[in-house]
Amino acid sequence: MGQITANELRRKYIEFFVGHGHAEIKSAPLVPENDPTVLFTTAGMHPLVPFLLGEKHPSGRRLVDYQKCLRTGDIDEVGDEVHLTFFEMLGNWSLGDYFKREAIQWSFEFLTGAKWLNLPLEMLAVSVFAGDEDAPFDQEAHDLWRGLGMPEERIARLPKKDNWWGPAGQTGPCGPDTEMFYWTGPRPAPAVFDPKDRRWVEIWNDVFMQYNKTADGTFVPLAQQNVDTGMGLERVTAILQGKSTCYETELFAPLFAAISAITGEAAPQKTRGGRIIAEHLRAATFLMGDGVRPGNVDQAYVLRRLIRRSIREARKFGVEDLFTARLAAVVVDQYGELYPNLAAGRETILAEFEQEEKQFASALEKGTREFNKVVDGFPPHVERKVISGRKAFYLYETYGFPVELTVEMAAERGFTVDEAGFQEAYEKHQELSRAGAEQKFKGGLADNSAATARLHTATHLLHKALRQVLGDHVAQAGSNITADRLRFDFTHGDRVTPEQLAEVERIVNEQIARDLPIQVAEMPVDAAKASGAIGLFGERYGETVKVYSVGDFSREICGGPHASRTGELGRFEIKKEESSSRGVRRIKAVLLDSSK
Ligand code: ALA
Repeated sequence: MGQITANELRRKYIEFFVGHGHAEIKSAPLVPENDPTVLFTTAGMHPLVPFLLGEKHPSGRRLVDYQKCLRTGDIDEVGDEVHLTFFEMLGNWSLGDYFKREAIQWSFEFLTGAKWLNLPLEMLAVSVFAGDEDAPFDQEAHDLWRGLGMPEERIARLPKKDNWWGPAGQTGPCGPDTEMFYWTGPRPAPAVFDPKDRRWVEIWNDVFMQYNKTADGTFVPLAQQNVDTGMGLERVTAILQGKSTCYETELFAPLFAAISAITGEAAPQKTRGGRIIAEHLRAATFLMGDGVRPGNVDQAYVLRRLIRRSIREARKFGVEDLFTARLAAVVVDQYGELYPNLAAGRETILAEFEQEEKQFASALEKGTREFNKVVDGFPPHVERKVISGRKAFYLYETYGFPVELTVEMAAERGFTVDEAGFQEAYEKHQELSRAGAEQKFKGGLADNSAATARLHTATHLLHKALRQVLGDHVAQAGSNITADRLRFDFTHGDRVTPEQLAEVERIVNEQIARDLPIQVAEMPVDAAKASGAIGLFGERYGETVKVYSVGDFSREICGGPHASRTGELGRFEIKKEESSSRGVRRIKAVLLDSSK
């Protein structure tokens, strides 16, 4: 097998599916337009959710694309050989068009065809859904693979936790999937496919959305059967090149060459710090390209964290000069043709990097000195070495240290940070600024973010109240929050009567009056599903998600931020209810007197 490059893989994938009647669509932005349940586009299917639910897509019923994705669940693991935040996902979709036969046939053809990936069948294995009380064994997928020559021992039958995609604990479209694996160990590959053997690496996933999970928990066959597939470009490129990590592929070569020149480190791709710098600044450049700017909340905060962590890693290599814009330029030049917004925004992007870096550079030095003082001040015999939340907040507020940075620096010295205490100090600070006291954050950001946080919480209450009043078919179809109001789109066939609206309003205000605490827990998406959390979109692959609970009333997967108690919300008032698109209603609502 010759060495296929990522560009060839991307091109072949698109060409293959265009050849089978798919329209190539453009990658959607990394920031979902109307969905606060996740901060970022996390899978190729994510921007297509309305179309998977039945809305008509302007490009037709067969689509193919490469989609930029960002997953922050494993952000702290970045630096090892496998974890990435940013990646590209290749995907093809049938929106109520072809189904299992064509999807599996084409996956097989693309993987094994001489003109395509040309992988020997002997190196491949697949898994199909084993069946349970909700849905039967996926005999059809199994038989299709058998018909294509896949030996029985290479077809694993796995349960829902492995071979099912879609909402659980929630109504909506979902279904079994079939995953394809490639043997990365010494040849020949074992005759029997053991899914627990990590040398079998998943390379592609075909999801068959054939059920609608209804309110009573039954799985009813869907009228519109969809196919949703996903192939991670970086990972598959590495695997096809026989590399153990994507950092060794040409995708990262230009960045590492530049990092090497900047740090003097001969092989930065072999170091944790080098990988963090490359990975984080690649992700940060794409975020900047999509208009995100460093800041203190949501996407802006993630971007800031990515950049600041890279700067700190570079310091460890002794880099003192500005360097982030130089590396961003490498990313822009490498990807500018595929993602024209990067090329178009080149100058602005580089200027933004430089500004953020300058802003942080001197603070980093002073903050590190301050941090060292705190750490060195601990008597050596103290066993539980904990940096107080107040100190961590001081480092955040005065030196712009994202709390995660403090946690990481602390860990390097054998310390932990009282993160709950940090959160408390942070919230107290927000309350102070809300009360009209001195605005410590520039530009009233804190105030805006507090208002937004309260509206986020109100959105969860609204979502749950709608399900109570209208039924469990209600699912979020979009959401948009400004500091002044929330806008929530949800699936519901009929108009909502004034009585129903009044009841929804009453329920929400009742929960506000109960002054329920909002708690957040981070857990793997499977555990979140099992706990009955609603609001699932593209997360998968053991990704960690945040689950926000509002007392005993609602439990939802969401990126936050949220109020700390519902009592802070003030009075909830629905301003408008209207149709948004077919089968989707829209509510606009506000919070009154919420500054108290
Ligand atoms: N949406 C599916 C995945 O991300 C294809 O694996």
